[in-house]
Amino acid sequence: MSDSPTLVTAQHFQYLMERTRGDDPSLKELKQAAKAAGIPSIWVNPAQASFMQILLKLSGAMEVVDVGTLAGYSAITMARALPKGGRVCTLELVKKHADFARAWIEKSDVADKIELFEGNAREILPTFETNSADACFLDADKSGYEFYLKECLRIVGKGGLFMVDNAFAFGELFADKPTDPETPAVRRFNEIMAKEHRIHSVIVPLGDGCWVGIKE
Ligand code: SAH
Ligand code: DHB
Ligand code: MG
Repeated sequence: MSDSPTLVTAQHFQYLMERTRGDDPSLKELKQAAKAAGIPSIWVNPAQASFMQILLKLSGAMEVVDVGTLAGYSAITMARALPKGGRVCTLELVKKHADFARAWIEKSDVADKIELFEGNAREILPTFETNSADACFLDADKSGYEFYLKECLRIVGKGGLFMVDNAFAFGELFADKPTDPETPAVRRFNEIMAKEHRIHSVIVPLGDGCWVGIKE
């Protein structure tokens, strides 16, 4: 039994979603406003967000790096899982996304726990100090994942938490002819992560597949 897992279907996802803490009214409002502003609805799934919050609470993380802000959903949900004095540093390249997120973070309950860095994560991450964070969440351009992982292995200390979104490549992981231009990059990254022996990791099948690991 334990060597052959239960096949998880859409019905299981529906079931677990109905039994997991979902979005509060302010997050629902943020999503509505983001859609109205023409921002793509590619934030993490609420059950995945809950799982990430549980991991952050368990780890006692104080400093978190969030690569790819979009509308601020992951930054706000992660910040809510941090103790007093905790901080999420969130990075966003696209001005429209950064402007939207800045405004919504400002009026959120965790404004004092989030710092938004507008610009290219490829240029911003190298300015972060070595061993200065306890956790990271990678969710920006997939062709950058290898570089972001390398940088976060420097920034996040021993015992730190690694989370990486979209291991299932937007549902195209096993597609014969993937349509998303980022699917090959996800496939390549998954092989790199699987061989990265400094991180003990596993793909958790929530949302679009989320790598979770601990730096050893
Ligand atoms: N983590 C967010 C979703 C992020 S979507 C959430 O769950 O709420 C990916 C975001 O990464 C997009 O907003 C995109 O503009 C941004 N992005 C893409 N390339 C980037 C780069 N090089 N540096 C920083 N942000 C980038
Ligand atoms: C896309 C990107 C994401 O990070 C995600 O979670 C879902 C979709 C995309 O680029 O299509
Ligand atoms: Mg994603």
